Amino acid sequence: MPKIFIANWKMHGGTAFVAEWAARFLPPPAVQVVVCPPFPYLAAARRLLPSAVAIGAQSVFCQTPDGAHTGEVSARMLADVGCEYVIVGHSERRVAGETDADCAAQLAAVAAAGMTPVLCAGETAAAQNPAPAKEAVLRQLRALESLPERVPFAVAYEPVWAIGSGKTPSAEALLHTGEIIRRELIAQKGAFGSTIPVLYGGSIKAENAALLGRAGMDGGLVGGASLDAAEFAQICRMGGVE
Ligand code: PGA
Repeated sequence: MPKIFIANWKMHGGTAFVAEWAARFLPPPAVQVVVCPPFPYLAAARRLLPSAVAIGAQSVFCQTPDGAHTGEVSARMLADVGCEYVIVGHSERRVAGETDADCAAQLAAVAAAGMTPVLCAGETAAAQNPAPAKEAVLRQLRALESLPERVPFAVAYEPVWAIGSGKTPSAEALLHTGEIIRRELIAQKGAFGSTIPVLYGGSIKAENAALLGRAGMDGGLVGGASLDAAEFAQICRMGGVE
């Protein structure tokens, strides 16, 4: 499977930024790139980036149908503007009140709209010791049970303490957590679970992107460093090396 590199712009960007980023970004060969701008810039990103680059959303409302939900955006709308991926359960959404049940509903809504959900799971700094870390991640992964059989999805292991902090796990620790996640995916989904991309996110930059390959990750979810198109392209190249 091609490695997947997701640029999570979070709440950054603007009309001029999207155009400049798209002009500067040279998509590396043989990897799947997904760019996730804020909602207002999804359509512009789709128009300005090459078709080989997929567009993704950073969140979605947890119910499928349209309706009286002021301020929300449905999965159908995201698919309609050209999204192919949706990030679900990012820790910055979980601290704002999103629950595992919300994540389960979002996963189902995204899959029903024909897009690929990317479920984020990771332990907080307080739960950084191996046993509770494993527990927190496994609890979050249970939301995947809401997905119908054999629909494509991805998992991003994002330890909360590594996001935006400049800290990353060691390659050994990441490899170990990757194995725990893989075992759970196979336990839930059978052989199909071995085909699911497991990504890592948290303080990945060009200078440390080789960690992804060393730890056997299937790609990365990149926040801050993805705002620089040239650095993000370099991360895709470095992180794609086994
Ligand atoms: P970061 O964010 O790369 O800025 O640490 C990663 C993420 O939150 O997805």
